[in-house]
Amino acid sequence: MLPSLAFALIAAAGLAGGQAFAGDLAAGKSKAEAVCQVCHGLDGQATMAMAANLSGQQKEYIVAQLEAYRQGKRRHEQMNIIAKMLNDDDIENLAEWYSSIKITIEMPN
Ligand code: HEC
Repeated sequence: MLPSLAFALIAAAGLAGGQAFAGDLAAGKSKAEAVCQVCHGLDGQATMAMAANLSGQQKEYIVAQLEAYRQGKRRHEQMNIIAKMLNDDDIENLAEWYSSIKITIEMPN
C-alpha cells in the first residue's frame, strides 16, 4: 500500500471516531470543485452577482435550500437542475464543506 494512502486511511479512521463529518468534508470539497465552484467558488465566494456566497453559511440552511431546490419547492432554473443531480449524501457533504469555511466579519463604521 502506498504510504500516502495508508496515512489517509488512518487519518480518516481516526477522525471518523471523533468527528462525524471528517470524511464528508473531503467528499464535499471534490463535489464542490466539480459542480459548484464555477458559480459559488470553491471557497464559497460567488463568482457572479446573482449566485449567493456560501462560505460560513449555516449547514442546516444549506441542506434545507438544496432539498427545497431538489423538490422544486424553491424555484430557480439552474439550481433546480443542479440539485436534482445530488443525492442525500452529496447534500450533506456539500453543506459540510461550505459551512466549514471560516469567514471574518467586519461591520462598516
Ligand atoms: C450555473 C451556476 C450555479 C451552479 C453551478 C451552482 N449554483 Fe447554487 N446558485 C446559483 C444561483 C444563481 C443561485 C441563486 C438562486 C436563487 O435566486 O434562488 C444559487 C443558490 C444556491 C443556494 C441558496 C443560497 C441561499 O443563500 O439561499 C445554495 C445553497 C446553492 N446555490 C448551492 C449550490 C451547490 C452546493 C452547488 C453545487 C452542487 C451549486 N449551488 C451550483 C448558481 C449556481
